[in-house]
Amino acid sequence: TEYNYILTSRPEPAVALITLNRPKALNALCSPLFAELNQALREADADSSVSAIVLTGSGRAFAAGADIKEMKDIQFADAYKNRFLEDWADMTRIRKPIIAAVSGYALGGGCELALMCDIILASPTAKFGQPEINIGTIPGGGGSQRLAKIIGKSRTMEMCLTGRMISAQEASDWGIVSRLVKEGEGEVVKEAIAVGKEIASKSQIHAQAVKEVVNAAYDLNLTEGLKFERRIFHSMFATKDQKEGMSAFAQKRTPNFTNE
Ligand code: HXC
Repeated sequence: TEYNYILTSRPEPAVALITLNRPKALNALCSPLFAELNQALREADADSSVSAIVLTGSGRAFAAGADIKEMKDIQFADAYKNRFLEDWADMTRIRKPIIAAVSGYALGGGCELALMCDIILASPTAKFGQPEINIGTIPGGGGSQRLAKIIGKSRTMEMCLTGRMISAQEASDWGIVSRLVKEGEGEVVKEAIAVGKEIASKSQIHAQAVKEVVNAAYDLNLTEGLKFERRIFHSMFATKDQKEGMSAFAQKRTPNFTNE
């Protein structure tokens, strides 16, 4: 597929890389960009040769937010009738793991985009923020909700009320990112691809099941979540890859998963 705002590639046979490619506008997430992103994610999800997806930015930004110039004249009635930005949540229905490789700005919708991914790796240059309040609005892509669950009320309030950008180190200390990678151009993408490759050595069924149960922890109470995990765990015994994984262990050999 030909895209205008993103690049797609396959740095590893089982890892799809999607690069936001609007660097002059700091990868501002205009509607056509998001439509392309959703399409590329759906294609990678549907492609059985892909086991993990890496999402990254370009230039000085992961993404500096929704496109302010596109939004500035929108009226409530249009936003409501046309469900403005509702397609942003489409990517939460992708079943394969998505790893965000963040360097530079991840602001507003850009921070929220990273939060919709499954793992976030950050370069020491990364800066996260929810600066919507500075331009007369509030987070609309899940930032207030997802951040509150990850970093708690006080830090979320501070970020959203002051609009202050937090450093990569703070984002790491607060648990927004799983870890910081070493400094250097391209390092964070390289590391994200390595994580993707590691995930790709497992059974896709089990990787998708992990994603499903971990995400349930954000929606369900503990009792429901534990029950859900146990049910999915039981169902793993119906997979060939469970038999393969456990026999390979017993026979002291590397498993050969077939995603069945
Ligand atoms: C449209 C943007 C943009 C954005 C940057 N640009 N962010 N265009 N929407 N969100 C454009 C600038 O207009 C400029 O275009 C070019 O990118 C380079 O940006 P500069 O501002 O010149 O760069 P710099 O001075 O280095 O400042 C970097 C920055 C600043 C601090 C990141 O660009 C900034 O504050 N951006 C806006 C951040 C923000 O408020 N994000 C939240 C958006 S609201 P030209 O043409 O002049 O070169 C949001 C709502 C989410 O995301 C709702 C989701 C559902």
